Amino acid sequence: MNRTELYLKRSVVAKRDGEEIINRIRKNVQWMEHSKVLDVGCGPGNVTHDLLLPMLPDSTEIFGIDKSFEVIQYANERYGKKSKMTFRQMDIALDTSALAEYNEYFDYIFSFYCFHFILDARSALKNIYKLLKPGGEFLFTFIVSGNYQELHDRISNTQRWGTYISKYNETFLFLPENQRKDFEDVIGNVGFEVIDIYVEPKEYSFPLAVVPEFAFSHFPYQIPENLKDEFALSIMDTIKEMEFHCIEEGKEYFCCKYEMLFAHIKKPM
Ligand SMILES: C[S@@+](CC[C@H](N)C(=O)[O-])C[C@H]1O[C@@H](n2cnc3c(N)ncnc32)[C@H](O)[C@@H]1O
Repeated sequence: MNRTELYLKRSVVAKRDGEEIINRIRKNVQWMEHSKVLDVGCGPGNVTHDLLLPMLPDSTEIFGIDKSFEVIQYANERYGKKSKMTFRQMDIALDTSALAEYNEYFDYIFSFYCFHFILDARSALKNIYKLLKPGGEFLFTFIVSGNYQELHDRISNTQRWGTYISKYNETFLFLPENQRKDFEDVIGNVGFEVIDIYVEPKEYSFPLAVVPEFAFSHFPYQIPENLKDEFALSIMDTIKEMEFHCIEEGKEYFCCKYEMLFAHIKKPM
């Protein structure tokens, strides 16, 4: 099974939370006909296709971008041919000149569970601002804190694994409560108006044995192939040591507790 297939198998949290957010968005936004929509960090395109597409009028033109070539290839093969969706490889935090013809093109930009992978949020927000039409809206979610980050940091601080994974906040965007105001300031400094922004606590119980697959499919860990089994045991042992596990109906789970930020922001007219 390749990494994209593994991601699809293990992306239950992204699907569950994406569906919940889209149901909320659906009630609050009036979609215009012939809109241009972009999904940033679309992954293999399943959320774009299964959740975004049905919410939007048939006349909508939908694009998806992701920095991973592998997922874009999958999305184009799986969905690109039979729907009006186009997928392109692009890192939203880097140069978006390849999308220069799309400056001020999009009415709505979405991004689900991608921003926690972007350390330079300011640069990504600036690029999104450029791509939006005046009056265009950006709606996004990402995980701002949680016990997975603590688990990651505990493992990255060990001698055994520290050479393969770096500390969470050196690679990913991590926003503990005292840094959220700064993030809102960045949004404002880029030029956006805030329509809505909030953080809410969430939980998901992963069967303990699937946590290693979740980790390998979601995080860019550079663990050598021959050490993956040992790494998997280490993650499961560390979850227990840190008392992040729980037993439900006789089965062991990782009780993943996290906070999700949702923001709905607008480029002024
Ligand atoms: C957890 S997946 C979410 C995928 C999809 N949005 C969903 O909800 O299932 C995060 C995706 O963001 C992509 N990503 C991370 N950093 C990115 C960046 N700087 N630019 C574009 N995509 C990025 C990753 O490659 C990955 O496919």
